Amino acid sequence: MLLCGIFGCISSCAPRVIADGLKRLEYRGYDSVGVAFISGGKLVLEKDKGMIDPFVRRLGLSNMSAGIEIGIGHTRWATHGAPCKENAHPHLDCTGTIAVAHNGVLENFLEIKEALIKRGHRFASTTDTEIIPHLIEEGIQEGLSLKSAAARAAKMIRGSMAIAVLSSAQPGTIVCVKRESPLVIGVGKNGSYCASDIAALMPYTDTILQLEDDQVATITRAGPSIETIDGKPVKPKFTKVRWDAGMAERGGYPHFMLKEMHEQPIALRDTLKLPSAFLERASRMMEGRVYLTGSGTSYHACLASSYAFSKLFCMDIRPVYSSEFQDLLCDLRGNTVIGVSQSGETADTLGALRHAKSKGARVIGITNTLSSSITALSDTYICTQGGPEIGVAATKTFLTQLVAMDQLMLHAASVANKLPEGVCSKLFEQLNGVPSLVERVIGQLDAVRPIAQKYFSRRSAYFLARGINVATAMEGALKLKELSYMHAEGYPAGESKHGPISLVEDGFLCVFIAPNDSSRGRIIGNMMEMKARGAKIFAVITEGDKELKLIADDTFEVPPVPEFLNPVVYTVPLQAFAYHVAVLRGLDPDKPRNLAKSVTVM
Ligand code: M6R
Repeated sequence: MLLCGIFGCISSCAPRVIADGLKRLEYRGYDSVGVAFISGGKLVLEKDKGMIDPFVRRLGLSNMSAGIEIGIGHTRWATHGAPCKENAHPHLDCTGTIAVAHNGVLENFLEIKEALIKRGHRFASTTDTEIIPHLIEEGIQEGLSLKSAAARAAKMIRGSMAIAVLSSAQPGTIVCVKRESPLVIGVGKNGSYCASDIAALMPYTDTILQLEDDQVATITRAGPSIETIDGKPVKPKFTKVRWDAGMAERGGYPHFMLKEMHEQPIALRDTLKLPSAFLERASRMMEGRVYLTGSGTSYHACLASSYAFSKLFCMDIRPVYSSEFQDLLCDLRGNTVIGVSQSGETADTLGALRHAKSKGARVIGITNTLSSSITALSDTYICTQGGPEIGVAATKTFLTQLVAMDQLMLHAASVANKLPEGVCSKLFEQLNGVPSLVERVIGQLDAVRPIAQKYFSRRSAYFLARGINVATAMEGALKLKELSYMHAEGYPAGESKHGPISLVEDGFLCVFIAPNDSSRGRIIGNMMEMKARGAKIFAVITEGDKELKLIADDTFEVPPVPEFLNPVVYTVPLQAFAYHVAVLRGLDPDKPRNLAKSVTVM
């Protein structure tokens, strides 16, 4: 789980330390912020919409006097409920004595919330998190300790969580529980700490313990005691971390891009947990003709999805570049336009959606940023769960866009009874298996560097594929071009003979996406045409394809992948290729020249 940051500490000047810790976690989310302390035996809560700096200045957190020695804080990236003061963490129970900061997504919160309301609990937010303090409150009322009440709450909840719990009834203790979302504990000379990542702890300690799934930590100033969620004691295993603060923020990776590529399996898993209510609402709007629109990488996600929709359901869905939308389409009455944008702020995409609305279309937004212009503009939206992406190159957000659209497509197909039940559930099963396939590919990415080493000084490259992987090819070419400044073009392999092949000469690099599917025979034909003119072939192939290993100069093998999911898996080695070429050329892949993460001009 990549969204939101938690920081807790038991040390002198806790407010200043928490403010500093949250600032280091700001890259995990920054639409709202909050802190809870114990001061004079009472629980004090402060929270607000917006970023950390103005919040810290307004409250004077950095200068708060000593005397406050325990607290928790949270910086949020909204997933459930709009980014507003009420939804900011920490959240309280009915007595106002228990505060909880949470990072994760709770799957069964609606049913638990309904039951809690029936038992008389009052809720102040629309978040999933708020059920946790109320469940703990019930445990305490039944005589459980804070730790046991938190563990029992965690057992009742399905979903991902890293939580920090503070209670004025136990004023020297922070209780933490971890499942799927990260949580580290640090012990230093001046106190004990918990945080969403090591970076936040670096100024205070290098002695770190990574909490494991379904473990509960009871932290006091002297350090933590750990148990499993079932109450079995666990011997704490501390390690010494030798990172500087910058490395820690990048999780030990030299660049954010590499870190974000490695986060792809978890980002996919989180996106596959999208609340079905959102997907069903969007899928019921998919009537008339459906258009998909986006820019850059987001357009490639649209292109891939148009192939998937069309192949699986014979649905004619048209992908359109956002920058071309208003010049191409004039009457959109009764139609649906799906706008895809990581940032939710891309001017071209917003322009296309405004045009679509003015011409009578319904608009669905797919974005990674809940509080963005696209969510405000859309009739309904789906929020991908990629978490903040710092590298300018879109990586994890591309993969999450693809699976969000796959989910939407499968929901739409089942709503419209387009597929027999058995087929639909098989496709959902395949979709749920894709994070593990991506994980396997990421485990083999070291093999890409020597290939990049062979080709990094080339001037130009073609990326070629057929069918749905034309989108993969275009995405691979865009990544290489934007990061390494090498000229690169991605296009359908069958088009080479209509012009592009005239550039091919000895040593020209052709990257083929060549899965073992119905297009393989034709792709081999295209490879041979290129080879005959002296091209060097780097092919991404299906594991064990001996024939292609003989034909190509270099290969990267990926496990067998269902065709509609090809771009999710085959794009990953191409991201790595672009990354390594850029690094070998001495460039910073996180900050390519002339580009911005969010392009807010047309
Ligand atoms: O935020 P958006 O998804 O709307 O951004 C669209 C493009 O600007 C973006 O995908 C761009 O192409 C990336 N830098 C590619 O890596």
